[in-house]
Amino acid sequence: MNIRLFKPSLTELELNCVNEAFDRAWIGLGPKVSEFEEEWKRHLGCKVAIALNSATAALHLALRVFNFEKGKKVLVPTMTFSATASAILYNDLIPVFVDSDPITLGMSLEDLNKKYDKNCVAVIPVHYCGHPVPMDQLILWARERNLKVIEDCAHTSGSLYKGIPLGRWGDIGCFSFEEKKIMTTGDGGMICSDNPELLKDVKAMRWVGIDKDNWKTAQEYTSVNKDAYHWFYELRVLGWKYNMNDLAASIGLAQLKRLNEMNKRREQIIKNYLKGIEALKFIKPLLSYEPEKYVYQMFGIRTDYKEDLIIYLKSKGIATGCHYTPLTMQPLFKPYASPCPVAESEYYKIITLPLHVDLTNEEVNYIIYNLKEFDDGKI
Ligand SMILES: Cc1ncc(COP(=O)(O)O)c(C=O)c1O
Repeated sequence: MNIRLFKPSLTELELNCVNEAFDRAWIGLGPKVSEFEEEWKRHLGCKVAIALNSATAALHLALRVFNFEKGKKVLVPTMTFSATASAILYNDLIPVFVDSDPITLGMSLEDLNKKYDKNCVAVIPVHYCGHPVPMDQLILWARERNLKVIEDCAHTSGSLYKGIPLGRWGDIGCFSFEEKKIMTTGDGGMICSDNPELLKDVKAMRWVGIDKDNWKTAQEYTSVNKDAYHWFYELRVLGWKYNMNDLAASIGLAQLKRLNEMNKRREQIIKNYLKGIEALKFIKPLLSYEPEKYVYQMFGIRTDYKEDLIIYLKSKGIATGCHYTPLTMQPLFKPYASPCPVAESEYYKIITLPLHVDLTNEEVNYIIYNLKEFDDGKI
């Protein structure tokens, strides 16, 4: 066996959608991107959704639109991917690292309260592995302190928390469609909000400062009835090259159609894992998974035998990962580090196991079998 940790699930549906972009011979920023944005708005129920080339770009622009004074502070979990905190540095702001809740490993609301001071302007909750941060409590807490809330939804797509979709609790929601994520566009991201005013410059910011429909401009190159100034544009804001393209959006449109079915499969796999490891002594689930309620991008475990188990699983052809080395332990972020004892001790126990839609029951059983063998060997 050779079992991958992550793998995108790609079918004829994605291929057919990409073919449409090929047939039109328009594969840059164009009509497929607009179509994907419309579909995403419907899916999430939000008022604005703008497609980008990554969640990293979404997080960068999400902070940028608030125009915070340089040197202000942003609260961010230590147990996350670099992009969540790098976006803070891109904006000349200071990350304040928050420890993990011992049960969910998501951002601890208790530590959040401890780390807050008057210079904080925003908080970026990350739904770690897909498990929701208690957004009802967090929003109340943030509003009392006049903090902006940017949800990092890179590990979730399609979950409701207390009846409201994740990504719509905060001022802005940022999603990732990178190839390991719940749904993919190869690389891609979406920035979403219920406040159109907030994102009014983001279309220009994502495309080198130009806020025009690129596809429409191209249609007008040879349209005799149109204004000769069809090519004209004005640059009012600083832009980046952060747009999604039509090839990526085509894949995204097909993946969105398959999202519910793909999420059902994830749910089944996680249930199998949970049942399969429930009696083990030295291997426990990474967090308090609730697969019937929430969509998870990652499944993992905690054990005191992290290194040994990784090597053992490697020898059986089973890929593993570690999500994450807390950012406070990374050289880049050490100058901003503050105490995060839970994340920094649990780090020595956490292993990510294979989770993707095309994982077969036979493969999951094989992984469980090997976890049991390892566990038995420790008694
Ligand atoms: C929590 C989190 N935030 C942000 C990102 C960045 O996503 P992208 O690769 O789309 O830029 C990732 C990617 O792995 C992530 O895991």
